Amino acid sequence: MLPSHSFLQLPAYQQLQSHFEQIKERHLRDLFAENPNRFEEFSLRFEDILVDFSKNRITAETIQLLRRLAGEAGLYEAIEKMFSGDPINLTENRSVLHVALRNRSNTPVLVDEKDVMPDVNAVLDKMKRFSERISSGEWKGYTGKPIRQLVNIGIGGSDLGPVMVTEALKPYAVQKDGKPQLEVHFVSNVDGVHIYETLQKLDPETTLFMIASKTFTTQETMTNAHSARDWFLEYAGDESAVAKHFVAISTNQSEVEKFGIDPENMFVFWDWVGGRYSLWSAIGLSIACYIGFDHFADLLEGGHAMDLHFKNTPIEENIPVTLALVGIWYNNFFGAESHAILPYDQYMHRFAAYFQQGDMESNGKSVDRNGQPTAYQTGPVIWGEPGTNGQHAFYQLIHQGTKLIPCDFIAPAISHRPLGDHHKMLLSNFFAQTEALMNGKSGEEVVGELAKSGKTKEEIELLMPFKVFSGNRPTNSILVQKITPRTLGSLIALYEHKIFTQGIIWNIFSFDQWGVELGKQLASRILPELADDQPVSSHDSSTNGLINYYKEMRQA
Ligand code: F6P
Repeated sequence: MLPSHSFLQLPAYQQLQSHFEQIKERHLRDLFAENPNRFEEFSLRFEDILVDFSKNRITAETIQLLRRLAGEAGLYEAIEKMFSGDPINLTENRSVLHVALRNRSNTPVLVDEKDVMPDVNAVLDKMKRFSERISSGEWKGYTGKPIRQLVNIGIGGSDLGPVMVTEALKPYAVQKDGKPQLEVHFVSNVDGVHIYETLQKLDPETTLFMIASKTFTTQETMTNAHSARDWFLEYAGDESAVAKHFVAISTNQSEVEKFGIDPENMFVFWDWVGGRYSLWSAIGLSIACYIGFDHFADLLEGGHAMDLHFKNTPIEENIPVTLALVGIWYNNFFGAESHAILPYDQYMHRFAAYFQQGDMESNGKSVDRNGQPTAYQTGPVIWGEPGTNGQHAFYQLIHQGTKLIPCDFIAPAISHRPLGDHHKMLLSNFFAQTEALMNGKSGEEVVGELAKSGKTKEEIELLMPFKVFSGNRPTNSILVQKITPRTLGSLIALYEHKIFTQGIIWNIFSFDQWGVELGKQLASRILPELADDQPVSSHDSSTNGLINYYKEMRQA
């Protein structure tokens, strides 16, 4: 069990509060001018990953106090507990062991005194054999043709990880005749449009559906899975063909069997794998098929390498802990409400969306581990889009708006598609943005520029205030050599451990998600009310009004 503490009463929290009062107005420009070694002092390396956190509104004292905060919150004991299988997900009475899924050193990991590694490895072997059968063409559809299209049907953690990784690692897709051997599709939304549009692109003879659901009861997934099966049977006409075109990834064998999938074609995982941490499990089957099992294993290796770094590296050098602490600094002292993740890599275009679930479902909590309301801010709003698209959309607000938005800029030094000067241009934007956010532009500079461009005194006076940038807007820069499966694995694990660290310090439970339940319950209560056209009166006036308007409108 995780011990509990009172975040606001931690001595380091109180010291940080008075320290904040002293340095809150300090400008990053001055901090850089004062210390020529700032980059060396405030950057960390792990394999080919460079994390530069020097463009943050921190001094050596800030980071020292933040580290003390982590120590007082019992971070290292908590890490030990997670890695050793302690049931730290108290409200669901479960261990939290996504780290065991990528435990490539194979050291025993005990849950209820049983080593889980043999089971983990058995599933990985089954995934390997299966992905090889798909890519070699040995696995055949009901008319004897090899599989060409994979459709992962899942939602939340049973969708976002595979979507994000297959996109990020597209250059590693198993090739045939100069293009990816498999097309991968993802259906998540219960909106019939999603499955409809996907089915339009498929050939039932060469399509394999992967029904990915930890519980195998999620309404969206099961509805889409049934629609996919109905569509398939319209062509195949014969139930016995289902076995060649449907596999299941789940913890729930009896529901899988009820759906009609042969347990032979089921890939299991366990309740100690949280949905949003499950891409490393059998939920990653679509990834393994698409990029090949060896690349999937490299992804696991990268995750494992970051796990060892997180677990064994002293706090001064620890990358996930450092990013977590800097995040807490803005969240709890500067009052920042959100955090942007900005990958300068088009293939990483779902990375922010992935960590929207990863972070917000984990740390979007307002009750602490004592069961008391938190009197402080917890998880931030996570958002972001790839650069440079974001620059032409929302960066205006980051540069000149009234809100403080700490940002992570992520970029590879080498592009998978080195086309002319594209990558240099992309990276020039990456470097320029963090520099501009940090320095800003003073009134004097603006006046100088306007005068140079021939503007009159009156014009300069008019324009000047709008062209000033205050700067002092914090960023982390994460630069890697190339987005390989290993590097991506490390980056994902880095963010996972950042989330864990923050949850521990905020004294919340990061591995449950009760907040998702209420909407689900109410929707299932409302569904039968939509069956007929009778007006309803069982809700508040707004909900009644909306339901009744819908009933009226749908008759048109
Ligand atoms: O959104 C709530 C949630 O429980 C997520 O945590 C999970 O990833 C998702 O639903 C899907 O659940 P399942 O894999 O059981 O279908």
